[in-house]
Amino acid sequence: MIGALPTAASLYERVRRVIPPIEWPAFADDIDAILALKRERNAVILAHNYQTPEIFHCVADIVGDSLALARKAMTVDAEIIVLAGVHFMAETAKLLNPDKTVLIPDLEAGCSLADSITAEDVRLMRQRYPSVPVVTYVNTSAAVKAESDICCTSGNALAVVKSLGAPRVIMLPDEYLAKNIAAQTKVEIIAWKGHCEVHERFTAADIRELREAHPGISVLAHPECPPAVVAEADFAGSTAAMSDYVARHRPERVVLMTECSMSDNVAVEHPDVDFVRPCNLCPHMKRITLTNIRTALEETRHVVTIDPLVAERARWAVERMLFV
Ligand code: 13P
Ligand code: SF4
Repeated sequence: MIGALPTAASLYERVRRVIPPIEWPAFADDIDAILALKRERNAVILAHNYQTPEIFHCVADIVGDSLALARKAMTVDAEIIVLAGVHFMAETAKLLNPDKTVLIPDLEAGCSLADSITAEDVRLMRQRYPSVPVVTYVNTSAAVKAESDICCTSGNALAVVKSLGAPRVIMLPDEYLAKNIAAQTKVEIIAWKGHCEVHERFTAADIRELREAHPGISVLAHPECPPAVVAEADFAGSTAAMSDYVARHRPERVVLMTECSMSDNVAVEHPDVDFVRPCNLCPHMKRITLTNIRTALEETRHVVTIDPLVAERARWAVERMLFV
């Protein structure tokens, strides 16, 4: 039996601490429409932790970090997957669901890391370092993944590197993630020069100022932050790992050195924790809105397609990571 749909009005209670009442009427109509469209179109919405709370808490079916979204994408049995996140995440969902329709609400939702490297760059790295395995961060195009031995996310990068049993690995394209992983292993890591435009802006001085202004504050950082930031933080981990840390440790006061919506989304679950919010917005994640999710479902757009020859090789690298 099909149950009654929740309504925007009933969902507001969940997010009222992070969305002021004056903003809610602007969202309510799209939320009701999206909930109805998902049922009508047999669709699910996968949302990354950086999506705004009205998407993350009110219309998404599956939420998480890049690793969780990839894993859970494999279990979806709906016909349509809408990826509320950036383009490489939608490509990953398509790689793992070649027979489903995967939609991204805005084709311009990119990523500075994905833009920092091409398939040709990876081929040149292989020529320069013959027989050194290539570990590629999922924040890359399918074409780049297709040139790689295995993918990784911030949640499993260390385990992936160790799983290869090689003395040296090439780790692309995030220089800071590569250096942060290198600090935890004896494996020699050859890095690329890509950076996340959101995380590269945090500095160790920011952390020292925060600690002075808020004595006792817990500082959590994403491993895309520069190594000096990670070194000063109390904990570094993927977006899911930061969220778990807050759930497990219940710090009185915390700052998440990452994208802004992350604090809002975690704060919804932890009204007792005080979130201090110097944060940086990801302009690519912010291209996804309730309105373009609604249009995606109404008009079946934008359909994510990947050249089948590229897809076959890229899928191998992603699936291999999921078995580590
Ligand atoms: P996570 O895999 O930790 O969610 O990170 C994805 C991302 O784009 C961080 O900037
Ligand atoms: Fe890319 Fe950084 Fe935005 Fe994540 S936060 S999608 S790594 S630009």
